[in-house]
Amino acid sequence: MAFTFKNLPVERDDLRVDVLTGLATSPKSIPPKYFYDEAGCRLFEAICAQPEYALCLTEQALMATCLSDIAAAMGPVECIVEPGAGDCIKVRRLLDALRPSHLVVMDIAGAPLAAAAEPLSRDYPDLAVTALGMDFIHNLEAAAPYLPTGQRLIYYPGSSIGNFPPDAATALLARFRQLAGTEGQLLIGFDLKKDPQLLHAAYNDAAGVTAAFNLNLLERLNRELGADFDPARFRHYAFYNPVVGRIEMHLVSLAEQDVKVAGQRFHFTVGETLHTEHSYKFRCDEFSTIANTAGWSLKASWEHNGFAVQLYG
Ligand code: TRP
Repeated sequence: MAFTFKNLPVERDDLRVDVLTGLATSPKSIPPKYFYDEAGCRLFEAICAQPEYALCLTEQALMATCLSDIAAAMGPVECIVEPGAGDCIKVRRLLDALRPSHLVVMDIAGAPLAAAAEPLSRDYPDLAVTALGMDFIHNLEAAAPYLPTGQRLIYYPGSSIGNFPPDAATALLARFRQLAGTEGQLLIGFDLKKDPQLLHAAYNDAAGVTAAFNLNLLERLNRELGADFDPARFRHYAFYNPVVGRIEMHLVSLAEQDVKVAGQRFHFTVGETLHTEHSYKFRCDEFSTIANTAGWSLKASWEHNGFAVQLYG
């Protein structure tokens, strides 16, 4: 049926401003949303297929096994909303089970999103598909005019919520609550705390795809901000910090060096890190506390192989 694609404009030059701010801060950091240029999107899909990175495959196995229970717990849904939908593959299972009349997908990578979402409108002839190229972290509320009235389900799989520090995760879930409305629901997948060795291996896959994904950020800055990073002089470094319960991902400078970004010079000492992402791991009760604070109540919970999917209303 109908397919609509809209690129929602941002008011400021986010990439440049955020990168210059992050590089001027100590320790240096860059927001993880900037991983996802076209190459970053492709590399991310490759990460999900690595044997050590079981997260995506486990979640999909869980969704397949529990789908009828999930659908029964949910009741009728008019509109599925998926922030950060990427390749739009995961949502297909829910479309099959729930048969909503509307799907609204959003992603910061607008062009890949449009290419992935358009076939859905052909494969599901009764479904109205709206794809929004937008930075939902910055601008979630701009999606509201595109949502029809009726039962809304926010679908947020892949432990993406773990990429936000706890306060920001709570704030984002509260904004999901606003967007879904008091009758709305949230189906969310997150990674559970587990053996640090398994976590370490997951973010240090033998094929080096996660390393390539992390280093691609530097290539993107070279291309889009005229930076002169030499990726060979940085190393992917990811480790599990059990004290705070998160994977920390960094790019470590292998040399004393100066790098020019958007006309400004930044100094790196040997061993200095550029922090690129956190990936928090939760216990089910820890996660429910966060969701409760954001105004959600737990309706049902499913677990498999160190991963959880929970339904909130
Ligand atoms: N949110 C998932 C996670 O934290 C997927 C993900 C996001 C990821 N960025 C990543 C996986 C970087 C590996 C590397 O695991």
